Amino acid sequence: MKKPILYAHRGFSGLYPENSPLAFQMVIDKTDADGIESDVHISKDGELVIMHDATLDRTSNGSGFIKDYTYEELLQLDIGAWKSPEFAGQHIWTLGQLLDFCRDTKLLLNLELKNYEVFYEGLEQRVIDEITARKMEDQVCVSSFNHISMQEFKLLNADIETGLLYDKPYLDMEAYISRSNADNMHPRYMLMQYQPELMGLYHDHHMKVNVWTVDEPADIRDMVNRGADAIISNRADILCDTVKEMMA
Ligand code: G3P
Ligand code: MG
Repeated sequence: MKKPILYAHRGFSGLYPENSPLAFQMVIDKTDADGIESDVHISKDGELVIMHDATLDRTSNGSGFIKDYTYEELLQLDIGAWKSPEFAGQHIWTLGQLLDFCRDTKLLLNLELKNYEVFYEGLEQRVIDEITARKMEDQVCVSSFNHISMQEFKLLNADIETGLLYDKPYLDMEAYISRSNADNMHPRYMLMQYQPELMGLYHDHHMKVNVWTVDEPADIRDMVNRGADAIISNRADILCDTVKEMMA
């Protein structure tokens, strides 16, 4: 049985405020995960910033779109207290800070380009510049629900792995992937239960299958048994324990 790569979704987001420095540190302190999944946007003044939503309302004490605030303004926001008052005092990271953290801790990074609600101009090249400046091409893979963005990304830099995120069934996936230059597929995990034959199709095309967001032990075991190459979970602790038991 093959051990998949284990990613902590938005850091250790099951127990700590998602995409916060604390959630990233807790991946190291409290789990054996191989890497982190995280999400990137662009501020009004062009800084690459780490947050899931395009808007601030759900996970900070701010409101409105990230794209309408400067980095200095975003830095004033608290991104921990919404989860619990004990987590107050967490502040937004730049992509550079997250990459430095991954370089120092040797964690892999699955970075999601959040360019399907807001279409950030030049996001692909900006992300490539941050990765290549640190020579982290082999430590980072990127993904997006915006498959045009992934197609462009691969043309701009062939050395960084790309993945197509999707959360609904497609009519003819074989035809679809034959037109894509992506390295990997990133399905919502239930889709691999709904269309199990796709695992073989993707592997025949030498694409890795990186599934999300898998939090229940039964589903984690199912994804391992089906041959998933990576599993992304909000509960990196449960994910690592479950896979460790299977591999024992
Ligand atoms: O990368 C997997 C997953 O993060 C995609 O969806 O909405 O959680 O960013 P979302
Ligand atoms: Mg994501």
